[in-house]
Amino acid sequence: MTASVPAEFTLAGPRPLRGRLRLPGDKGISHRALLLAALADGPSRITGLADGDDVHRTRLVLEHLGVRVRASDGAVVVYGAGGSLREPERTLDCGNSGTTMRMVTGLVAPQPFHTVLTGDSSLVTRPMARVVEPLRRMGARVDGRDGGARAPLAVRGGPLRGVRCELDVASGQVKTALVLAGLQADGTTEVVEPNRSRDHTERLLGALGAPLEVVDDRTLRVRRATLPAFELDVPGDPSSAAFFAVAASVTPGSAVVLEGVSINPSRIGFVDVLHRMGAAVEIRPTGDRLGEPVGDLEVTAAPLTATTFSPEEAWIDEVPALAVAAAFADGVTEIRDAAELRVKESDRIGALAQELSQLGVGAEERPDGLLIHGGQPRAALLKSHGDHRVAMAAAIAAVGCEGESTVRGWRAVAASYPGFADDLAALTGNSS
Ligand code: S3P
Repeated sequence: MTASVPAEFTLAGPRPLRGRLRLPGDKGISHRALLLAALADGPSRITGLADGDDVHRTRLVLEHLGVRVRASDGAVVVYGAGGSLREPERTLDCGNSGTTMRMVTGLVAPQPFHTVLTGDSSLVTRPMARVVEPLRRMGARVDGRDGGARAPLAVRGGPLRGVRCELDVASGQVKTALVLAGLQADGTTEVVEPNRSRDHTERLLGALGAPLEVVDDRTLRVRRATLPAFELDVPGDPSSAAFFAVAASVTPGSAVVLEGVSINPSRIGFVDVLHRMGAAVEIRPTGDRLGEPVGDLEVTAAPLTATTFSPEEAWIDEVPALAVAAAFADGVTEIRDAAELRVKESDRIGALAQELSQLGVGAEERPDGLLIHGGQPRAALLKSHGDHRVAMAAAIAAVGCEGESTVRGWRAVAASYPGFADDLAALTGNSS
């Protein structure tokens, strides 16, 4: 899948962005749609599924677990068998996808078989105790390196019982893993988070009539259920849209419409930060898909000023894009209380500090944040650090700079957005 994405991306700026773009399907909703369809009773039809490697991994993992998945007329059909899965014959390779590993651990923990999950050199360093420990409290037998804190993880599946799980870190992935386990466990599973995280799972299950109760924005309860099969057209990914929204904001002469993206409040918080910085971004709601609100984002270029923000978990993925907005803004932007950035696909605090410095932007690293001295970034040789969102952040910084920049390690974009360079070229009138 990564073969079609080149190792380097060179582009000359500044290049205003103009026109309309339909974003690829949301990554988080795509993972959830595949996993819930795998538990459903009958064939579910999903269109607009994210085409990146991460979601592809979830699909392959499900196939190894005995779920039939077929492409048909631009849709993906998942033949759920009411929760009956099969012991995989081989180790499940989750690639770079933390979402696949954490959610699938919850999916297989109540199944009567043995599963081993691993991933690439980044994924095997990422924290897994946050999902393993609450599953153990439900009775799951999960082992792994470092006492189960790191992959490879080995799950000896068996019956689970619902318990109250108080999470130390808010996490849409962990919450979903526990819901997938709770849908197959005895009793009631309660998940309590320290802060709210993205709520796609709750919305999808609510629309399917599942026995899931949203108690408040940090607490949910779920009981055993067989899910009905469903049809879903996955909304566009707001995290991908954020890169174009920032590129259009910082590049004079830009005016774009980003069509059909999820405008779920737990995902679209980056627009509030951009508004605080003076950006001209309008959200135009257009509808609803299985509980997920959808709309267009209209963005025109505007001068930005610095701000201070501490990312909620729900929009922590947008920090790389917002760091680029800060690099072009007037003044010093402070990103605080963001230690989670250190354990994403790369250490995003370190990676962003390095790449901003390459662009001639003052960036001071803090243990849990970053100070960015905005100004006029200059073209540079940049690196992805093997992280799709750092790669796209580097590319949009390059769009706004005078001169030619190159992003090395470009292939990393394949995790979420293999067509990013083509879509950027379409908006800037450049052919890549
Ligand atoms: C995701 C939740 C977030 C996010 C990740 C996708 C999800 O991670 O950073 O890209 O789909 O639930 P955490 O659950 O680790 O906070």
